[in-house]
Amino acid sequence: MRYKLFCSPKTLAAALLLVTGCVAPSKQVPAQQIPSLKDAFKNDFLIGTALNVAHIQERDQKAAVLIPKQFNAATPENIMKAEHIHPEWGRYDFDMPDKLVEYGKKNNISINAHTLIWHSQMPAFARRMQSVDSFRTFFNEHIKTVAGRYKGKVQSWDVVNEALNEDGTMRRSPFLQKLGPDFVTEAFRLAAAADPQAQLYYNDYNNEQPAKRAGCIALIKKVQDAGVKIDGVGIQGHWHVGRVPFQHIEESIEQYAALGIKVAFTELDIEVLPRNFQGADVNQRMQDNPGLNPYKDGLPDSVQQQLAKDYQQLFELFLKHKDKISRVTFWGVTDGDSWLNGWPVRGRTNYPLLFDRNYEPKPAFYKVVATKRK
Ligand code: G3I
Repeated sequence: MRYKLFCSPKTLAAALLLVTGCVAPSKQVPAQQIPSLKDAFKNDFLIGTALNVAHIQERDQKAAVLIPKQFNAATPENIMKAEHIHPEWGRYDFDMPDKLVEYGKKNNISINAHTLIWHSQMPAFARRMQSVDSFRTFFNEHIKTVAGRYKGKVQSWDVVNEALNEDGTMRRSPFLQKLGPDFVTEAFRLAAAADPQAQLYYNDYNNEQPAKRAGCIALIKKVQDAGVKIDGVGIQGHWHVGRVPFQHIEESIEQYAALGIKVAFTELDIEVLPRNFQGADVNQRMQDNPGLNPYKDGLPDSVQQQLAKDYQQLFELFLKHKDKISRVTFWGVTDGDSWLNGWPVRGRTNYPLLFDRNYEPKPAFYKVVATKRK
């Protein structure tokens, strides 16, 4: 059988040595010989990362080299959330999001804008609002102004984020309480009017789990039945090492795609530290204790290998369904950037991504790249 090479033979040989365990995954591979994720999967789906302010301003110099080489899509980790972009009634702060758009243009990186409607990180003025009319005005103006500003400049929008509970019912957010259950359809209608070219996504965590998935499917159908444009669903993909729900993920890809929409994995990370609940509800926290930060001096090899195996299996699954998947985005560039160092317990040392704290590719990186050889 013949394979198409996505990198030079020298690069491939270096990657093979690492994958087969013939060399330790360390700084032995010169930078120019490290394969590129975006090139490896260029015929399959976009490969994205979450960007923080230091990335966008190119203050993180190592990341400034790594990001354009590895990724062709990016999602702002925080700067486009309502609290930041719309801090006061009638006042918007577009400075950093404009820089992000410029950064994307300069580096051939498509931007997934995140996020228009989310109950978390809402501006204080909107959180305090009692009047339904004022709240509706905030909702309408926010979508119209923000999506309108980036019309034609971003590839996609996470229009509504995390509107569902774990049992598939709708979360009792200020949006549900003040605007009623049609707010999701309304948000998509307004976003489509403001930026007709953008791909519009509903985004959530745990929506690969059967009950939440059923609620998510019902929500998407409701938008479709109203004749309103919705292009895709984002499965965030905050999972745990050794417990990635492969079967639920595969069923979800198939069932969502059957609705005629694309599936994106929008916030992928696989955490390795102890946790007593699933998901990514930022309001949920865990009581700290010394046992909760076991790998502060380094990740044991057994966990490193399990992480690599999980990532490999995940990308094998993504490739199997590549016709249904538009993008796979990691929630951060390196382990050092990850939100999981600070949540659900502050000050831990987590290892959920493909690049380590020294910006070096981990064994999981090479396993992911190697899925293209099969
Ligand atoms: O910017 C302030 C800084 O000025 C202050 O000194 C510091 C003190 O804690 O806080 C900084 O803000 C933090 C912000 O991240 C930027 O680092 C917030 O406290 C912190 O709550 C916020 O966390 C973000 C979280 O969403 C809550 O909005 C994470 O970075 C971000 O990764 C996370 O992303 C979410 C997705 O948007 C939606 N899905 C779940 C995902 C993970 O929670």
